[in-house]
Amino acid sequence: MLSDIPKHYPVLLNEIISIITPQHGGTFIDCTFGQGGYTEKILSFKGTKVIALDRDKKCKEIADKISKKFENRFVFKNKKFSQLNHLKLKNENIKGVIFDLGFSYSQIKDVEKGLSFNSEGELNMQMGINEFSAKEAINMLSALELEKIFKFFGEENEAKKIANQIIISRKKKEIDTQELVKLIEKTKTKKNFKIHSATKIFQALRIFVNKEISELLNGLISASKILKKDGVLAVVTFHSLEDKIVKYFFKSLSENKSISRYLPQLNQRETLFKILEKKPKTPSLKELKENIPSRSAKLRYMIKKDNSYNFETDIFNEFRNLIEIENFGNKL
Ligand SMILES: C[S@@+](CC[C@H](N)C(=O)[O-])C[C@H]1O[C@@H](n2cnc3c(N)ncnc32)[C@H](O)[C@@H]1O
Repeated sequence: MLSDIPKHYPVLLNEIISIITPQHGGTFIDCTFGQGGYTEKILSFKGTKVIALDRDKKCKEIADKISKKFENRFVFKNKKFSQLNHLKLKNENIKGVIFDLGFSYSQIKDVEKGLSFNSEGELNMQMGINEFSAKEAINMLSALELEKIFKFFGEENEAKKIANQIIISRKKKEIDTQELVKLIEKTKTKKNFKIHSATKIFQALRIFVNKEISELLNGLISASKILKKDGVLAVVTFHSLEDKIVKYFFKSLSENKSISRYLPQLNQRETLFKILEKKPKTPSLKELKENIPSRSAKLRYMIKKDNSYNFETDIFNEFRNLIEIENFGNKL
C-alpha cells in the first residue's frame, strides 16, 4: 500500500523551484524521481511537463498515482540516468534537468535493499538495475581492491585494516550485513563520535555496487547535451566526492581558461554554460530543523548559453582513478 511507504522529505525543494522557474511552463527532466517530491511540485505549475527517471522499480507505484493526476503531462521511466541519451526527446525544449543524488528515505528503510547498517540478513545495497551486489563484492574481491573502495569511495582512514579483517573473516563463513557492522566496529581504533563506525564503509560499498561515479559522469554529460538555450542543470549532492565531481564538471564547462592539463585548447573557445552563483546553496535553518539528513546537501546549478549539442570534456580523465576502482566490479 502506498501509505506504507516511509515519506521522503524533498531536500532543497524551494531552492530548486526558484532556480528552474516552472511557473513559466516547459519540459523538465527529473533524473531521480524517488517519491516524486520535485516532480509533483513542478507539475503543480500550469504548462509544465515532466519526464522522470529512477533506477528503482519500486518508484513505479507512486509514479502511476502521479500519472493519473497529471495524465498527459507526466512520463516515468524505470531507467538509470546514465541512459538519459536513450530518451527519444523529439526536439523537445528541455528547460531543466535535475539530479537529487543518493537514496530516498523509503530506500534506506527498505530492509531488503540493506543500505542501512541497521539492516539484517544478506548484504545487498542494489538500488535497481545492477550487475552485482555488496554480498559478491565483500565475499569475492581481493584485500587491495576492498581497501581502495573503502579509501577512495568512503574516505575511510582505516581502510586497509578493515579490508584485511574481511579476508580473514570470510574464510570462516560468508559475511552478512550485521557481521560486517560488527567487524568494522571491532577493527576501527580511531572512534568518531559524530557518525556511526560503519557509515563510511557502507557509503563506499553503495557507491561501488551502484557504479555511482560513472552514473554521475555520464548523467551530467547527457544532461548538458539535451538542454536547450537558457535551460538549467541543477544537482543536489550529499557527500564530498559527488560535490567534487559536479563542481569540477560545472567549472570546466563555464570557465574559459583551461583547468586541466589534458585540454589546453579550452583557452580558445566560448563556454557552453554560465554560473551565476559560485557557492552552492545549502538548506535553511527551518529545513535543517525539519529534516536532519538534509545537513550535508549542496545544490549547484548552471545555465546553458546556446543550443549546441557537442562539447569536449576531460572529466573521465580527471576521475579515471575512481573509474578504475569501479571497474573491479566487472569481474563479479
Ligand atoms: C534522494 S532520492 C530523490 C528524491 C526525490 N527528489 C523526491 O523528492 O522524492 C534519489 C533517488 O534517485 C534514484 N537514483 C539514484 N541513482 C540513480 C541513477 N543512476 N539513475 C536513476 N535513478 C537513480 C534512487 O533510486 C532514489 O530513488
